[in-house]
Amino acid sequence: GSRGIHATKLTSFPSKKVFNEKDGAVYTTSSGAPVAEPYAAERIGKIGPLLLQDFHHIDLLAHFDRERIPERVVHAKGAGAHGYFEVTEDITDICSADIFSKVGNKASATVRFSTVGGESGSADTARDPRGFAIKLRTQEGNWDWVFNNTPVFFIRDPAKFPHFIHTQKRDPQTHLKDADMFWDYLSQNPESIHQVMILFSDRGTPDGYRHQHAYSGHTFKFVKKNGEFVYVQIHAKVRGGFKYLTQEKATELAGTNPDYGIQELFETIEKGEEPTWDVYIQTMTPAQAEKFRYNILDLTKVWPHGEFPLRPIGKLVLNKNPDNYFAEIEQVAFSPSHLVPGVEPSADPVLQSRLFSYPDTHRHRLGVNYNQLPVNAPVRAVANFQRDGAATYISQGARPNYQSSIQPLTYKPRSYTTEDHEHFLGAAQADLSEITELDFEQPRALWTKVFTDDAKDRFVSNVAGHLGGARSEVVIARQLSVFATVDQTLSDRIADAIGANRVGPLDNVKPAIEAVKFKAHVGGEGF
Ligand code: NDP
Ligand code: HEM
Repeated sequence: GSRGIHATKLTSFPSKKVFNEKDGAVYTTSSGAPVAEPYAAERIGKIGPLLLQDFHHIDLLAHFDRERIPERVVHAKGAGAHGYFEVTEDITDICSADIFSKVGNKASATVRFSTVGGESGSADTARDPRGFAIKLRTQEGNWDWVFNNTPVFFIRDPAKFPHFIHTQKRDPQTHLKDADMFWDYLSQNPESIHQVMILFSDRGTPDGYRHQHAYSGHTFKFVKKNGEFVYVQIHAKVRGGFKYLTQEKATELAGTNPDYGIQELFETIEKGEEPTWDVYIQTMTPAQAEKFRYNILDLTKVWPHGEFPLRPIGKLVLNKNPDNYFAEIEQVAFSPSHLVPGVEPSADPVLQSRLFSYPDTHRHRLGVNYNQLPVNAPVRAVANFQRDGAATYISQGARPNYQSSIQPLTYKPRSYTTEDHEHFLGAAQADLSEITELDFEQPRALWTKVFTDDAKDRFVSNVAGHLGGARSEVVIARQLSVFATVDQTLSDRIADAIGANRVGPLDNVKPAIEAVKFKAHVGGEGF
């Protein structure tokens, strides 16, 4: 029988009575035996050695010895809360996912915000992108939105991710963060510039966690019941607008209150305020995608609002703090591959790699049964042939552990086929993207059209404060060339601010015409 819970009851996770016994609970060992004195250790007499028979004492120490699990290899420092996602607009014309079947449908949600590069004790106000991961518990399974607070990313070739991340962390010898390796990577890989422009703008130091937007960054696919699909980008925009800290304030808070973000989020929700985001999508038909100036699978690009307006779909509300941070936030496990019928991944290679990487790291960080942990468990009953493994909580009782004809499961087919979706054809090959003029257009728009004069001043000063800490003249000059390819004045202003020589643009940028365009021959015979 189904243990499914009706969606309308699921406005928040988890219920207090599941985890918190009333105050004054009887003190016990982990096996439930009452113990009179928690500080006492069994020994011979007053000064003799301790006894191996003292289960309470060994239980206490052995559990303590194992308290730490690996911290996330990235996004280790974070804060989280629970709430819900509510569908506010009808989008059944483009998506068959169960959650969108009716306006007013709700899914309980758990959100975790994070910085990326720092360890779990690092300062919340560091200049860094912010992770913004959202678990939606829908009736058709968990749908995780593992988003950042920026619409683009530093890379579009997934093999660069470990290299990139290593340069944002600590030097293997000095164990110090290192401005040379930070800028060495970015200047050698100029497709990073769009994200670098955002990172060193006001958006790189958000004011806590609850005044920022979230973006899917990647392209996903929403599929209709008949199999037709659109490409989508998801945006969650915070009510009240994006608020930031100046570099000076962020630096000050890093010293006076490194947990500023955690504290601010917790206290806001504790006061009964409900941080809220309006959720929108941008959509593109397959035909539009092939005509689009940029490759929709290129994570360093946005879809301009003018051409692809935001369409509202719902709202995300946070209304409950965790009762226990470790159980509900440290152990929450998001993956872009936790998808639901009606939503498909695109062929974006970074997304494709992430589909693998997250469950892989969860099996390492939390164990093979990570999806059985209460915060990760779906609201509908899980029925499959997975059994056992470390930390099994639910082993599906007496149900057969193979595809049985005697006691069969029921199988729910997808309402659509993907026959008419992309047909990709080509030789297997090792592929790496190249830098073209297209890579500088959107960063240039940010500099020339989006930043105000004051924002430009802060940007130059923020870059100067960091790039000025690099020792390698080669690295500094190369990064100044990347900035000069965006805009010569921008580069000159940074050069002047750090007392470096002015340099011209990169000379190895290919013409825009050589950029790879998106062509997937949707619905065709392939090519
Ligand atoms: P618009 O000119 O319509 O709007 C500008 C966008 O930039 C708004 O979404 C605004 O967010 C956001 N923004 C404002 N300041 C910053 C900042 N310091 N860093 C990053 N984003 C910021 O956008 P277009 O679609 O015409 O694109 C122009 C440029 O805006 C792009 O090249 C891209 O760099 C940037 N951008 C575009 C987004 C998109 O999805 N199209 C999303 C975010 C940025 P807000 O709504 O809070 O004011
Ligand atoms: C966390 C890998 C790119 C958003 C993580 C974690 C890994 C990882 C291993 C730790 C997860 C955990 O321990 O639970 C990668 C790889 C990438 C990549 C291999 C590229 C190849 C991205 C991008 C985004 C993103 C492009 C956003 C659009 C996040 C978020 C978290 C995270 C929000 C934190 C999740 C949480 O709060 O638990 N990533 N990542 N990552 N990543 Fe990525």
